[in-house]
Amino acid sequence: MRLNDCHNIDDFRTLAKARLPFPVFDYIDGAADDELTKARNTAAFETVDLVPDVLAGVAEIDTSCTILGRRSALPLMLSPTAVQRAFHWQGETAVAKAAERFGLWFGISSLATRSIEEIAALTSGPKLFQLYVHKDKGLNTHMIERCQAAGFDALALTVDTIVSGKRERCLRSGFTTPPRFTPASILSYAARPRWTLDYLFREKFRLPNLDTHVREGSSKALSIADYFNTMLDTSMDWKTAAAIREQWGGKFVLKGVMSVGDARKAVEIGADAIMISNHGGRQLDGSRAPFDQLPEIVDAVGGKIEIICDGGIRRGTHVLKAMCSGASGGSGGRLYLYALAAAGQDGVERALGILKDELERGMRLMGVTRVEQLTADRLRYRN
Ligand code: LAC
Repeated sequence: MRLNDCHNIDDFRTLAKARLPFPVFDYIDGAADDELTKARNTAAFETVDLVPDVLAGVAEIDTSCTILGRRSALPLMLSPTAVQRAFHWQGETAVAKAAERFGLWFGISSLATRSIEEIAALTSGPKLFQLYVHKDKGLNTHMIERCQAAGFDALALTVDTIVSGKRERCLRSGFTTPPRFTPASILSYAARPRWTLDYLFREKFRLPNLDTHVREGSSKALSIADYFNTMLDTSMDWKTAAAIREQWGGKFVLKGVMSVGDARKAVEIGADAIMISNHGGRQLDGSRAPFDQLPEIVDAVGGKIEIICDGGIRRGTHVLKAMCSGASGGSGGRLYLYALAAAGQDGVERALGILKDELERGMRLMGVTRVEQLTADRLRYRN
């Protein structure tokens, strides 16, 4: 299979699986416990059906919308995800450039392998920084100040990762940051020489937004679960979130809100957006899918805060369904990560091209010419 044979997101997954050592693939593809929530995130979209209108004159359509004060060419964001250099040597650079080319929001993680400053210099497109609140308060302040100086458009505070989910595939494979070859996995690295040579001989793996303050994850290898469980501040609460919003001063997002009560509190502290998200099913397995939670959250806080439906999206029609349910946009990580892992920037661009095409086709077949026409009366719930 080659890149040109990829016609949907699942095809990129197949290609990534063929090209990556299994510990790396399983880190991207895997989720928590029985991975029920990860599966549900996508399956949830099948519980509703779209109702098309016809004869609507769809020669000219406009797929754009405004998200967090900036124009987005599609109602789709690329969620921040960690350690992209481990997936492909081009890392976050590839995603930043592809997002700019397609006019989309993207984000980098605190655990990014490119610095805040490098990313800001690469693209003037809309970008957010995903903050993990560390025990080291100086580190938190340092990251926020760097984002301010670099002109990031938004800060997304991660609220669903107070401790790490139990990622059993990572326990089995021994995946660490930085990646290390273990006796159990060395053969899989040997069998994927392209990845392994790129990893060994291209620029060194770093976490440049953290390594000013902590060695863990950069010069000291550990699992992502151990990183979270030792470095992050489990006392983080609503006061912390309000204080960070204050300190940041710009567009502020809570990433990982799932309940109506928390959505209301997000409005109270003056957040500009919430990402309804269960972290791609990587945290609390058995928790509800973002798309399932969307209607009650839209009922409670719609119009008061932007609501991004994050997770499970693999198709343009999934984004259309989220928009009909009242989302301000859809977002996802794996929808571009498989493609990044499979083929770097070319891969991400092909994946985004496919999703753009699916969105445009879907809108035309729905008989809508603008994103605002995607309303609740165009959806039917099966049960
Ligand atoms: C994860 C973090 C790093 O889910 O976002 O692995």
